[in-house]
Amino acid sequence: MATREQWNTKAGFLLAAIGSAIGLGNIWRYPYIAYENGGGAFLIPYFIALLTAGIPILILEYSLGHRYKGSAPHVFRKLSQKWEWLGWWQIFISFAIITYYVIIIGWALSYTFFSFGTRWGESTDTFFFGQYLGTTDSFWEAGGLQWNVLLPVLLIWAAILVVMHKGIRKGIERASKILMPVLILMMVFITIRAVTLPGASEGLNVLFTPDFDSLTDPNVWIAAYGQVFFSLSICFGIMITYSSYLPKKSDLANSGMIAALANSGFEFMAAIGVFGALGFLAVSRGIPVNEVADAGVALAFVIFPQIINQFPGLNSLFGVLFFGSLLFAGFTSAVSILEPAVAGVKEKFNLTRRGAVNWVCGSAMVVSLLYTTQGGIRYLDTVDHFINQYGIAVAGLVEVILIAWLLRKLDDLKGHINAVSDIRIGGWWNFCLKGITPIMVSLMTAFNLAAEWAKPYEDYPMSGLVSMGWGSVALVILLAFVFQNIGWRDPAIRLKGGRR
Ligand code: ALA
Repeated sequence: MATREQWNTKAGFLLAAIGSAIGLGNIWRYPYIAYENGGGAFLIPYFIALLTAGIPILILEYSLGHRYKGSAPHVFRKLSQKWEWLGWWQIFISFAIITYYVIIIGWALSYTFFSFGTRWGESTDTFFFGQYLGTTDSFWEAGGLQWNVLLPVLLIWAAILVVMHKGIRKGIERASKILMPVLILMMVFITIRAVTLPGASEGLNVLFTPDFDSLTDPNVWIAAYGQVFFSLSICFGIMITYSSYLPKKSDLANSGMIAALANSGFEFMAAIGVFGALGFLAVSRGIPVNEVADAGVALAFVIFPQIINQFPGLNSLFGVLFFGSLLFAGFTSAVSILEPAVAGVKEKFNLTRRGAVNWVCGSAMVVSLLYTTQGGIRYLDTVDHFINQYGIAVAGLVEVILIAWLLRKLDDLKGHINAVSDIRIGGWWNFCLKGITPIMVSLMTAFNLAAEWAKPYEDYPMSGLVSMGWGSVALVILLAFVFQNIGWRDPAIRLKGGRR
C-alpha cells in the first residue's frame, strides 16, 4: 500500500480544518439563525451545544481518524466490519451537500462581478430571482438550464478540480494557507466598516437583546445543535478524513479546541458585521430592523445588494469584499466536503488520487446541474433542509451511540487522545458523548419529525418533499449499504477488518 499523504505542518492542518468549518454557514446562516432564535439569548443554547456536542464530537472524530488512519468507511470497518456503512452514509451526505453547495459559491462568484458598478440595480429581489436565477412559477416546472448560473458553477468546479488533483499538501493545505488569512482580513474589514455605519447600533441591539422566553422553545435548541454540527463540519466524514492525514505526534485536544473557537469567533464576527449593516439599512429607510432581516439566500443575495446600494461611498469595494468572502469561505469548505468521498473511493477501489477525484467530482458535477435549472433554487432548498435535519444530525447520533454504547470505545479513544495531547480530557467528555449528545439529538430529531408532518416545508407540494427531500435522505442510506457490500480492491484492507 502506498504511504498515506500527510499535512505539511500543524498550522497547515489547523487552517484546513478551520477552513472547512468556516463556510457559507457562518456568514449568512448563523446571523439569521441567532436572530430568529432569541437574539442574544441564543448564545446560551449555542454554547451549550458547542460544549456538550460540538467540541466532544470534533475531538472524537479527530481521534478516530488519527488512530485508525483511513477514510470514514475504512475507519468504521476497522472498528467493526458490519459498521462500514456508517462511513459511507456520512460520505453520501457530504456528496449530497456538495452538489448544491457549489451552486451557492457560483452565485457568490457572479455577485462578486456584479458588485463592480452594483449591476443588480435597484430592485435586487427581481434581479436575483427573476433575471439571474430565472425562477419558474411552480415546483415541478424545472425550466431549462440557466446559463448565468451554469457558467460560474462550471468555473468553480474547474478550480475545485485543480486543487483536489494536487492532493492534501499541495492542494488543500496550500489553498487554505492562502485563502484563510485573506478571508479573515476581509471579514475584519467588513465588520469594522459595518459597525461604524450610521444606524449600526440598531442592528446590534436586535441581535443581542436577549429574549429569554425563547429558551423554553425546543426549536431554539434544535437550531443551536443543527447550527453547531453544520458549522463545525462534524458528522459528515470530513474531520475523520482530515485527521487521518495527521502525523503520529499531533495534539488532538488542543487542535479541536482551537478549531472550534476560531469557527465560533468568526461566526460572531460575521453576525456583528451583518447586523450592523442591517441596522444601517433599516435606519436609512426609517423602518424597524426586523423588516429588513431576511433568511439565508435572500439575506446574502437580495438584502446585501440593497445595503451596498445605500453605502455612502466605495460601494463596489464593499460588494467585492462581502461576496468575495462568501466565495473564499465556501471554497475551502467545498474541497473539505469532497475529500471524504475522494478518500473513500480511492481506498475502496484502489484508485489513484487523480482517478478518485475525477470520479467523485465528475459525478457530483453532473448532479449539480439539476440546481442550475430555472427551478433549481426550490430543489436546492428542499435537499438542503432534509439532508441537514435528517442526514447530518442522525448520522452523528448513530456515530456516538456506536462508539459510546455499542463498541464502548470511549475510554480507549480518550487514552489515545491524552497520550498525544497537552490538554488532558476528562470524564466530561464521556458524559457528553454517552448522555447529553444522544439525548439532545434524539429529542431534536423527534421534534423535527413532528413539525415536518404538521406543516409541509415551505408549503412545497408533498410530491416534491417526498421525492427530493425524503428521497435524498433514503437514497444516501441505500447507497451506503450498497457500497458496504462491494468488496475492497486492496487485498491488504480486504483481509484486515475489525470484529464482525
Ligand atoms: N462547515 C461548513 C459551513 O459552515 C460546511 O458552511
